[in-house]
Amino acid sequence: MIIVNSEREKELFSQVYDEINKYKDIVCKDPFRLHYHIMPPVGLLNDPNGFIHFHGVYHLFYQWNPFDTKHGSKFWGHYTSADLVHWEHQPPALAPSEWYEKNGCYSGSAIEHEGKMFLFYTGNVKNREGNRESYQCLAISQDGIHFKKKGPIIRLPQGYTAHFRDPKVWKKGETWYLVIGAQSEKEEGRVVLYSSKDLYTWKYLGALAGGNMNGLGEFGYMWECPDLFELDGQDVLIVSPQGLQPKGYSYNNLYQTGYFVGKMDYKNINFEHGEFIELDRGFDFYAPQTTLDEQGRRILIGWMGVPEENEAYHPTIHHRWIHCMTIPRQLKLKDGRLYQKPVDELQMLREKEVTYPHVQIAGRAIKLEQVNGKAVEMILDSMHFATESLEISFKGHARFIYDPVKKRATLERKSLKEDKIESRHCEVPSLHKLHIFLDTSSAEIFLNDGEEVFSSRIFGDVADESIVFSSKGKVTFRLKKWTLRKIFE
Ligand code: FRU
Repeated sequence: MIIVNSEREKELFSQVYDEINKYKDIVCKDPFRLHYHIMPPVGLLNDPNGFIHFHGVYHLFYQWNPFDTKHGSKFWGHYTSADLVHWEHQPPALAPSEWYEKNGCYSGSAIEHEGKMFLFYTGNVKNREGNRESYQCLAISQDGIHFKKKGPIIRLPQGYTAHFRDPKVWKKGETWYLVIGAQSEKEEGRVVLYSSKDLYTWKYLGALAGGNMNGLGEFGYMWECPDLFELDGQDVLIVSPQGLQPKGYSYNNLYQTGYFVGKMDYKNINFEHGEFIELDRGFDFYAPQTTLDEQGRRILIGWMGVPEENEAYHPTIHHRWIHCMTIPRQLKLKDGRLYQKPVDELQMLREKEVTYPHVQIAGRAIKLEQVNGKAVEMILDSMHFATESLEISFKGHARFIYDPVKKRATLERKSLKEDKIESRHCEVPSLHKLHIFLDTSSAEIFLNDGEEVFSSRIFGDVADESIVFSSKGKVTFRLKKWTLRKIFE
């Protein structure tokens, strides 16, 4: 079933196919092409969008500029999967073809209703005076592949600037709700709530959270990509604020992503919440999105990147593509904190298991036989430290350090921009387990079953597949390692 929204859309879709074909060989020859992380076939990928488990198939859309490795007029690219591991690239879902989205079909979400898939997204417009306009739009699909656009359904309410975007929709009882990332006229970041009975007509209910609300104080000038959901008896709001200043170990990337745990009062439209907690401690993590799958799991995928920071220095731009997604992670709430666990399906990638039942590192740097590779999973457990720190270096380019005296975990990498080492830290009172996923140009390190996570791109010497352990004093652990299969080209 082919749906043609307009001649302009047809033309844009055909330009996308030309672009993919033109650069296919250059893109695929990049040694930093990842083996099992979602990437764009060409161009720039940013936020995950419209993540949904629809009629037994996972759909992940993404912000996509097929024509450049810089940000621009975004399309919605589209991947589908039966198992969250093997992904198939689909035709682009949305192109910025209409007046209300001419400068980009920006981020949004998907829901299922009466067997159809509904996409909610932001139409981004730069008008003739060079000012921004934003329209919240709807597109509907029978098959989950081809979308009929319905145009704008929400216009900008009073009290906000045109930085008003990224609708996320869910159902509670018989009512649909939608949150939007916003900026107040006083330039405070906000999350704004709407409700609807029919998905077409939306009622503005007010601001739910933001800077100078609920005792939060100043908290950035814009909040992007909100996602509000129930988990383990609480309500969680994940959001990506812009404009936070670095504070100790926190907020050291250009923009951050974190969450508030609280209780949503749908009657009085109030979200009582606790403090903002950063969701990831690495260099590259932003604008994640979650979905509730048909098994009842809350699954999160994030963009393993940060807008504009370092983009000009990524080596992959010479191969005409940039950025990727994180692996999918299942969320759990424990003692008021989100835990992220790689989904079990990722075990399908495992090959060539290597086990070391008892590793002892005592000072000098060592390599363990067969513990290396381009795409690798490792689990270190039964970890025992007295007062000594452990260091694991990956591919001569990045290094994870745990210091039990300072109760601090650190990730270091060589800067993409300058000749220096940069680092990110977080406080971890004790470390008993590390779960590590390395790909050709990424590292995701889960501490203590996902209590903290470091996600980062790492670009070393492609020939260097080494993993080196060292310590100050004696550290012991058990280690399992697998080579991970290649899924993507
Ligand atoms: C977050 C973001 C969203 C916006 C999209 C545009 O990275 O800025 O707020 O919808 O990217 O690509």
